[in-house]
Amino acid sequence: MSYTITPMTSHQTGAEIRGLDLTRPVDAELKTRLNRDFAKYHVLVFRDQKLSAAQFAAAGELFGPLHSQHHKDIRALGHPEVSEIRNTEVAPGKYMIAGESFHTDHSNHPCPPRATSLHTVTLPSRGGDTQFVNVHLAYDELPDEMKHRIEGLKAVHAFESRYTPRKMRELSPESRKALPPPAIHPLVRTHPDNGRKFLYMNPVRMDSILGMEDGAAMALLRELMAHATQQKYEYRHKWLMGDMVIWDNRSVMHQANGDYDMKEVRHLYRIMIQDDPALWTAEGEKTLAVMAA
Ligand SMILES: [Fe+2]
Repeated sequence: MSYTITPMTSHQTGAEIRGLDLTRPVDAELKTRLNRDFAKYHVLVFRDQKLSAAQFAAAGELFGPLHSQHHKDIRALGHPEVSEIRNTEVAPGKYMIAGESFHTDHSNHPCPPRATSLHTVTLPSRGGDTQFVNVHLAYDELPDEMKHRIEGLKAVHAFESRYTPRKMRELSPESRKALPPPAIHPLVRTHPDNGRKFLYMNPVRMDSILGMEDGAAMALLRELMAHATQQKYEYRHKWLMGDMVIWDNRSVMHQANGDYDMKEVRHLYRIMIQDDPALWTAEGEKTLAVMAA
C-alpha cells in the first residue's frame, strides 16, 4: 500500500495522509515509514477510515502497544483500552467536555503515553475542533535567559493539580484504585526519536516544581504556557467523518473545544500508545539522584 502525505502547516505540525485503508494489513516497511512521518510531523491525520473499536485498536498498535486509560467506566464494549469521548450532561444544562484546555495526556503516570489517537464515531454539524501546539518550536524560540532558567527544573504531576484551570472528570472507585502516585518529570525533555528538546507541561496536573515556592512555580508555568500556546505554533484540526488522528504527547500539547451545539452528539473513540519505560526510568533515576543530593 502507498499513500500521499500533505503537510497541514508551514511549520511541520500536522500532516494529512490519504490512500490508506487501515482495516487492511500493514507490512513492516509501511509501518516504519508511518512512524518516521509521525516523528517528523507529530500529528498525523488519516482520512476516510471506518474502523470498529477493535480495528481502531489494531491501527493504533502500528505505533506501539496500547496504554491503559484512567477512566475504566467509559470503555468501548469489549475493548478495555478503547475509551469513548462524548459530550456528557453532568447537571441540567451543564456539560463535561474532556480536554478543554491545553495539556498532554496522562502526564501523572510514571511512563506517560507517547501518543494518543481519536477516531470519529459521530460529529456535530459544526465546531468541536482539536487544537495542537508544537512544543519543540515553543522551546526553540524561548529567550536564552528563560532556557537557562528552566533547565533542570522538575515538576510534580498529580491526577488533578491543586491549581488546575478545570475540574477533572470524577474517578470511579475502580479507576481510583488503579491510579498511580504523582510522578516527577523534567520541564525540558529531549525527544528520543527526533533528538529535539521540548517543553513538557500540563497545567491540569502540574502541582508544583521541585525547589520552588508554589506561587513562583505557577507564575512560571503561566508564562511558559502563554508563550507555548501562541497561534504561530498551532495546527487546528477540523474534524471530518472518517478521520483517525494520532498525536505525539511529547511534541505537542492539545485542547478540545466545546463550542458546538450540546444538543448534538460528538462521539469519538480514544486510545493511547505506551512509551518506552526505559526512557522515563532513566529520567526518574536522575530525578531521584537530584532529590537525594
Ligand atoms: Fe487529552
